[in-house]
Amino acid sequence: MYKNRRFLKARIEISMISTQGSESGKRTSLHGHWSSKMAFILAVTGSAVGLGNVWKFPYVAGENGGGAFVLVYLACVLLIGLPVMMAEILLGRRGRRNPVATMALLGKEEGGSSKWKLLGVLGVVAGILILSYYSVIAGWTLFYIVKSATGVFQGADAETVGAVFGGFVGSWQAVMICHTLFMALTVYVVARGVERGLEQAVRFMVPALLSLMVVLLGYSIVSGSFAEGLGFMFTPDFSKLTWNSVLAAMGQAFFTLSIGMGAIMAYGAYLPEETSITGASGAVVTADTSIAILAGLVIFPLVFANGLDPAEGPGLVFQTLPLALGQMPAGAFFSTLFFVLLSFAAWTSALGLMEPAVAWLVEHHNRSRSQAAVIIGGLIWLLGIGSVLSFNVLADTQFLAGTIFDNVDFLTSNVMLPLGGLIIAIFAGWVMCRNSSADELGGAGTVYKLWRVLIRFAAPIGILFVLLKAVGLLPDLG
Ligand code: PHE
Repeated sequence: MYKNRRFLKARIEISMISTQGSESGKRTSLHGHWSSKMAFILAVTGSAVGLGNVWKFPYVAGENGGGAFVLVYLACVLLIGLPVMMAEILLGRRGRRNPVATMALLGKEEGGSSKWKLLGVLGVVAGILILSYYSVIAGWTLFYIVKSATGVFQGADAETVGAVFGGFVGSWQAVMICHTLFMALTVYVVARGVERGLEQAVRFMVPALLSLMVVLLGYSIVSGSFAEGLGFMFTPDFSKLTWNSVLAAMGQAFFTLSIGMGAIMAYGAYLPEETSITGASGAVVTADTSIAILAGLVIFPLVFANGLDPAEGPGLVFQTLPLALGQMPAGAFFSTLFFVLLSFAAWTSALGLMEPAVAWLVEHHNRSRSQAAVIIGGLIWLLGIGSVLSFNVLADTQFLAGTIFDNVDFLTSNVMLPLGGLIIAIFAGWVMCRNSSADELGGAGTVYKLWRVLIRFAAPIGILFVLLKAVGLLPDLG
């Protein structure tokens, strides 16, 4: 209890004003630090675990043929995602400011140019764009809480569940109401600076979500086509892998870990000196990846058992899970609980998406926190209308990657986040001096050496290669 209160206090302070640092020696944040390593891990996990794990991972894996995609995704998480996350946290802790200011400061200190702050700007824009459609899908989960609670899915068959989904997203008014509601909830929390309460919720939410998924896994093993689902997820068929699906796997790794846009950097600014960045990153990546894999293991066996299409698209989870939950004893209860947990997970991620833009408006344009939250929230809500309409009125208006929703998703996950990651990797690996990064990562031991190889070579070369390959700028060598 006491510990919690200390944590709350630290969060109140850090959420109010930006950080300044003493210019001599190690910088400290004026506004408090996380009270414990656990508090930091909870906040980062809250940002990482969200719709990306439960909603996006299964449907993108399904669209990209399963096995080979999953393998590439796991490789990206380990070889690119983990080192970039560590780099983001260490830059944040080194600078102890908001991402734009941190990059400007470190850029000057380490590389002689404050132009590196453009990374912060990229992050602000990416956050706004991602939240514009994230809020629409989070709105779906709100709708599903109500539907579950009223027992609509109890004993329903695949057709009925599919019809509920189709009927809902087909109505732009209904989707708009839910999008509006979710944005209002997010703006409320950001405006009042009460993230700490929500972050405390992560303490029970993530374990609860995990436990519920394990129960669902049990159901899926018993009643789904488990062998077929398992085969789909883990038997790589590389003939199905295109450079576009490799890009999608890499984009998914960035998206699900919340890296490449400065959200994690902002959290790193409040991390106490003695906390191990490697340990904390390892814990977050493990939790995040486990939930995604678990979601896949639950969903694909059900997809095959019910004759659904794994390449169904964004509706996949909304059509399979209610079906499974509806067959279980006390289904209405579990189904409601599941969507409540998922909404919470989306909510804690949404805060991280909005924070860079709000912090920027507060610091550079002298707005109060509530004003900034309302302005940014309003803008995101407005942009979100494009995604609301992508599932109904404008479903047939397709260009480049598909609907407006598809395009915003592609641009952010597959282009902007990897680009942000590339800049972070180059800065931390090549511009920042070795002593500075070794200092933050606890000395130049084996782990540090491994990290340095990954951040200098694997991450930047991997990202650049995949980006160029996907746009066809690199020739095929056969
Ligand atoms: N990682 C979050 C999810 O998986 C989404 C997110 C991306 C949040 C980028 C913050 C920053 O749902």
